[in-house]
Amino acid sequence: MRITIQEQKIKGGEVVIMPLFENFKTKELEKELNKEIIMFLEKQKQKGIFKGEKLTTTTYNNEKNNYLFIGLGNKKEKNPDLLRKASALGVKHAKKNKTKKYFFKTSEEIITNPYELQAIIEGAMLGKYDYDQYKNKKEITKEPEEMIITTKTTNNEIIKQANKIIKKAMIISESVNLVRNMVNEPASNKPPKKVVEQAKKLGKKHGFKVTSLGKKQLQKLGMNAMLAVNRASNNEPQLCILELNPDKKEKPVVIIGKGVTFDAGGLQIKPDEYMLEMKSDMAGAATVLGVITALSRMKYNKRVIGIMGLVENLIGPEAYKPNDIIKAYNGKTIEVMHTDAEGRLVLADAISFAEKNYNPKAIIDFATLTGACLMALGYRVAGLMGNNEELIKKLKESSEKTDELLWQLPLYNHYKKMMKGTITDLRNIHKSPGKYGPGAITAAAFLNEFVTEKTPWAHLDIAGTAFSKEKTEYVPEGGTGWGVRLMIDFFNNN
Ligand code: BES
Ligand code: ZN
Ligand code: ZN
Repeated sequence: MRITIQEQKIKGGEVVIMPLFENFKTKELEKELNKEIIMFLEKQKQKGIFKGEKLTTTTYNNEKNNYLFIGLGNKKEKNPDLLRKASALGVKHAKKNKTKKYFFKTSEEIITNPYELQAIIEGAMLGKYDYDQYKNKKEITKEPEEMIITTKTTNNEIIKQANKIIKKAMIISESVNLVRNMVNEPASNKPPKKVVEQAKKLGKKHGFKVTSLGKKQLQKLGMNAMLAVNRASNNEPQLCILELNPDKKEKPVVIIGKGVTFDAGGLQIKPDEYMLEMKSDMAGAATVLGVITALSRMKYNKRVIGIMGLVENLIGPEAYKPNDIIKAYNGKTIEVMHTDAEGRLVLADAISFAEKNYNPKAIIDFATLTGACLMALGYRVAGLMGNNEELIKKLKESSEKTDELLWQLPLYNHYKKMMKGTITDLRNIHKSPGKYGPGAITAAAFLNEFVTEKTPWAHLDIAGTAFSKEKTEYVPEGGTGWGVRLMIDFFNNN
């Protein structure tokens, strides 16, 4: 979809999306809309059908016009996310009407800063997403070819910057949609090596370096925790390293993603419906690839490293077993108390590998790590933990700006004690009197053992947010691409 911003007059016979604040004055709209439409809106308002309340809509249709009006609620409560949502409703309307070109008509008060323009573009790009590549051609609705944002904004700054903002918003949104596609792809089509191939293609196209370590190299390095998880799979594990500006001498920020391309649970196999969504267990890795791709396309000029720990957790004669003892890359011994707590084993090796080899300024990991986090926070909020309050604060700031919500969980010392082993240094699930316990936090406490105090580290548990059963205006069911917008904001501000 092409997106432009213009002062263009709308002729008629076109799909027009127009956001309106609550209690809009039809008098003030007389310059922008013709009489019939004004009368229609006035009636709707009087009858209380459409008053411009938040994200309510009404359509006006005749041979000449196809208008969708979207309420924005109270003027004072306007914010970028509301515009993102309104724009998503708009693109869905345009798509449903099978239009090639549509207008998003904004009055002067709607776009008043670059963030708001960015949000409108993101809303359209994310709202038009459908995972339809496996559908019969006849059933696929084509997306609009063109979105024209018409504005009368007198704020020349925005107009001057418009092309830059549009480009940035498109890059970010395309990365979000890339992550959605990767996560939605069936597990059998995306074993570790396939994900590496995809990364290599993107690296070549957009200018970042991609290398990958296979089974032999991982064995040599002693990355036994990661290797143990993959033992029942016929597909080779991969530790894939993405490097942005590799020649710079500065300390890099390293982002790490859990890339379990399928999580059957291992020998302690998952019960039926719990396995159904486990193609999404590589969402952390996909997020890392999406973020690096976007940063590279934006010509971000600092050194950043992405690491994807790619394995499959299957069942078979070679599978790792409960009570097996593994020596991880950093030398700590782990007793396997549950083969379904595999993500932390993959991340343990990836995190200590990152700290040992790259002297990072900070490490941030993304992982669909625990059902407990999903239970605690649901589909729209990710868990946030770490060893450095300053890093956590920065992530929270970006979270608030992008509406990718985070909630910090406490990483007190007594949680760490729950992960101490009896015959080993560590166990991979917590000791607990009953069946249930603080699973999201103890998983983070385990990860904490693989990074030293000197390196700021944050862990984002995206088990709920990465793959959603709750669709909203611009977030579909299935893969959500959560975290890309958050991290681009984080990198642009720090
Ligand atoms: N991949 C799962 C976590 C998960 C669950 C992600 C639901 C998304 C939705 C993880 O590997 C896992 O199985 N965790 C177990 C840990 C338990 C055995 C301690 C869990 O959360 O139940
Ligand atoms: Zn698992
Ligand atoms: Zn898992």
